[in-house]
Amino acid sequence: MTGACGPGDGVPLIECRGLGLSRGGHPVLRQVDLTVGRAEIVGVLGRSGVGKSTLLRCIVGLERPDRGCVKLMGQDIGGLGEDELNSLRRQVGLVFQSAALFDSLSVFENVAFYPRRFLRLTESELGELVARHLAVVGLPGTERLMPAQLSGGMAKRVGIARCLAAEPKVILYDEPTAGLDPVMAAVLDRVIVDLRDDLGISAVVVTHDVRNALTVVDRAALLHGGTIYFEGRPDAFAETADPLVRQFVDGAVDGPLTDG
Ligand SMILES: Nc1ncnc2c1ncn2[C@@H]1O[C@H](COP(=O)(O)OP(=O)(O)OP(=O)(O)O)[C@@H](O)[C@H]1O
Ligand SMILES: [Mg+2]
Repeated sequence: MTGACGPGDGVPLIECRGLGLSRGGHPVLRQVDLTVGRAEIVGVLGRSGVGKSTLLRCIVGLERPDRGCVKLMGQDIGGLGEDELNSLRRQVGLVFQSAALFDSLSVFENVAFYPRRFLRLTESELGELVARHLAVVGLPGTERLMPAQLSGGMAKRVGIARCLAAEPKVILYDEPTAGLDPVMAAVLDRVIVDLRDDLGISAVVVTHDVRNALTVVDRAALLHGGTIYFEGRPDAFAETADPLVRQFVDGAVDGPLTDG
């Protein structure tokens, strides 16, 4: 059994079993099985539109699947009330595809958002906490800036700092490096790896940038046709002869992904 404080050693942080979800009569997810353990970085790869963001929204309970279940820290979120779901959800951070900061709030207030609501801190403790999380993502001293003043890479890192303030066990990153220059993409990758190495925070990294992802993740899952079509360590992706995986990894124009 798991307690409110967290999973036992053997309990995955995230467990999706047989997830299915249709949109407008069209199946997006058919049968998705995915497990994320402690201090693990898992990539979810797939072409645009295969349902990667939808899968993340199911994991955090923003969407309810039609079939299957999602367990967070061993608890099936399908049967939970709003309060219980919210308390589990706080342990699972989501960094949205568009950083999704609160535009009218400063960087400080964006990062302070969760602790203001859920922790009883003095203003000076809050200031220390925000400064600490901004330093972790490499943005010390940016508290007074407004979201409109941030570059794309800065906004994504503020989004991560906002997640960190909820002290998550795992962070789901939706396209963390999309639209960033290669150096900033490498900075973001480093943040994800450092959070795992230094704080033990697991990661689910959703991306269609397969080459970049395979340098960062411990394990990757290729979402295709509503299921996890292929899953393995990065070297398994590099070595497989499966034509569909090969086409995706190599970025080839011709092959099963583009036939028909
Ligand atoms: N609100 C919606 N109503 C109907 N269909 C939707 C809606 N949102 C997404 N979809 C459909 O669900 C499918 C999966 O979308 P999703 O955003 O999860 O894909 P994705 O893999 O994250 O794509 P991308 O790499 O472009 O971000 C797409 O076919 C999309 O058209
Ligand atoms: Mg998406």
